[in-house]
Amino acid sequence: MLARKLIIGNWKLNGSLNANRDLLKGLLDAIPHIQPRLSAIEWVVCPPAVYLSQVQELLSGSEMQWGAQDLSNEQKGAYTGEISAHMLLEFGCRYALVGHSERRSKFTESSALIASKAITALEAGLTPVICVGESLADRESGNTWNVLSEQLDPLLALLNPGTMNRIVIAYEPLWAIGTGRNADGVTAQETHAFIRNKLAQVDLACAAEVSILYGGSVKAANASEYAAQSDVDGVLVGGASLVISEFLEIGKAFQASLGE
Ligand code: PGA
Repeated sequence: MLARKLIIGNWKLNGSLNANRDLLKGLLDAIPHIQPRLSAIEWVVCPPAVYLSQVQELLSGSEMQWGAQDLSNEQKGAYTGEISAHMLLEFGCRYALVGHSERRSKFTESSALIASKAITALEAGLTPVICVGESLADRESGNTWNVLSEQLDPLLALLNPGTMNRIVIAYEPLWAIGTGRNADGVTAQETHAFIRNKLAQVDLACAAEVSILYGGSVKAANASEYAAQSDVDGVLVGGASLVISEFLEIGKAFQASLGE
């Protein structure tokens, strides 16, 4: 069980200058005053890229970090619409999500492309949060381990063992994202253990240090179920990250799991 828990809010295609300001102000006002202090929690928000400048301005010097929802695997040039790792670093990003299931399914991103994005982020000094997850049909037909292996193998083939502890994996079953139907804690634990074992095939020691997050309909009411699992090192939160009280309670559940 890692001593520091990662709570990442994925805002997806939501937000406005006013709404972002209210949300972040609410979080910034509350976080330093929560007792006991949430010292073991790393809070991160991933806004749409056009708001990174605003988020940087509001969060610089605070206890919160921010990241991008995606990045290009290219550095520069004729790639209309893309955003590079270097650009994200200029706006203070520490994290970049890659391979979110909505990128995989709605924008047909392959596991090979996602692996390449993750390596690009790593090499630039960003922490890639690589999302993986199976469909309901795959889960029900006992195909989950195959799907997760297909998604992870291209990444593992490119990863330099020494840098593996700088990645984050987010396990997000497709059937749980935005559906209100979350995976139970036991399912999450079992799947995270499978993922950690796969990482251990590359580097046993580093695998123990990789944060593996659960995502999919996480909210205040179910966060402690995940926090109680030894291989769940935090959560990637969509809808509930847009609600101040929900996001705070999720962090508190993880802090409580550490006995603090
Ligand atoms: P959700 O989204 O929490 O709204 O289910 C999670 C995600 O897609 O990262």
